[in-house]
Amino acid sequence: MKLQIIGPMMLLLVLNTIFTNILPVIGKDYVFEKRTFWNKLITPTSWCFRKECCTDTYITPNITKLKEEFNKKVYGQPLVYEVLPKAINAHFENVPNKALVLSFHGRTGGGKNFVSQIIAESLFQKGMDSKFVHLFIPELHFPHKHQITRYKDQLQNWIRGNMSTCPTQLFIFDEMQSLLPELLDVIKPFIDYYNHKINGVDYRRAIFIFLSSTSGNNITSVAFKAFKNGRKREDVTLREFENGIRLSSYKHQGSGLWHSKLIEHHLISHFVPFLPLERQHVRKCIQEEMRKRGMPKCPETEDEVLEYLNFGPDEAPIYAAKGCKNIHEKLNLVSNW
Ligand SMILES: Nc1ncnc2c1ncn2[C@@H]1O[C@H](COP(=O)(O)OP(=O)(O)OP(=O)(O)O)[C@@H](O)[C@H]1O
Ligand SMILES: [Mg+2]
Repeated sequence: MKLQIIGPMMLLLVLNTIFTNILPVIGKDYVFEKRTFWNKLITPTSWCFRKECCTDTYITPNITKLKEEFNKKVYGQPLVYEVLPKAINAHFENVPNKALVLSFHGRTGGGKNFVSQIIAESLFQKGMDSKFVHLFIPELHFPHKHQITRYKDQLQNWIRGNMSTCPTQLFIFDEMQSLLPELLDVIKPFIDYYNHKINGVDYRRAIFIFLSSTSGNNITSVAFKAFKNGRKREDVTLREFENGIRLSSYKHQGSGLWHSKLIEHHLISHFVPFLPLERQHVRKCIQEEMRKRGMPKCPETEDEVLEYLNFGPDEAPIYAAKGCKNIHEKLNLVSNW
């Protein structure tokens, strides 16, 4: 009788050991994602208890949190609040017919990477550290033109391989203006309309975010024109910026080529223009940095930091040239905290 109980228990113990200790060593993470039966059987000391898996515990789309984070942390970007929560919510609510493709544009320091990070944190328990979040920086990951064939293979295998282990993935391509155009041909099939699985892999649940500063000046011109006409920046519509971004992408045949290609194929789900930040927004960034350091509120210190920053255009210098970038370094110059 005892043997009848001990036998299966020993078997479970051995299987648990194999699944939690031996297979990870040989790097077969995906085995666990496919074998949900074993995952359930060996909890709570299961693989997924200790390691990130393609489950609800780790993939946690939370649109309320996303909205709260945008409201609390992102300054002066009305179109971020307007477009992103709705777009992301819709992507997770129904089965989408293609991957969600977001194209962020704007000049330096306006929050493109910052917002991408907030999205990652609202979708994945581990945020940017999640294995389902992939950040590509062309100058770092694909620097040499002569190695393009290798990069193409690597990128394709990377996207396909990851997508086959879990359909919810976030791919962030930074500095798109520096991406070798041939690499776009690799990305294109993954973001195209298919409305079904391809070779058993569902690419529709993925999110791609492309970040670019190509149209920064264009966005600034549209915002500045509105300012001169006495309009509030919050009242400038997405469409007004969109036309400008489109035009500048076609004009910059080189750095904007990636964009015009995606536009031509109607693959971009949403453009998100990042507006140039004004003094009041940069002041909030300084206040936030001071708060993080545990410094008391001090408008004089804020003014001193602002003194170090450049504002433009000459006609009416209302926009910070580098947005909220380098705030912490400038704060170091005026304070020892
Ligand atoms: N709109 C914003 N609201 C709050 N903080 C911001 C905003 N924009 C930028 N920041 C702060 O400035 C830092 C730098 O911004 P970020 O790297 O996101 O800019 P970017 O748009 O990606 O610029 P670049 O085009 O140079 O890459 C962020 O980590 C964040 O702390
Ligand atoms: Mg950036």
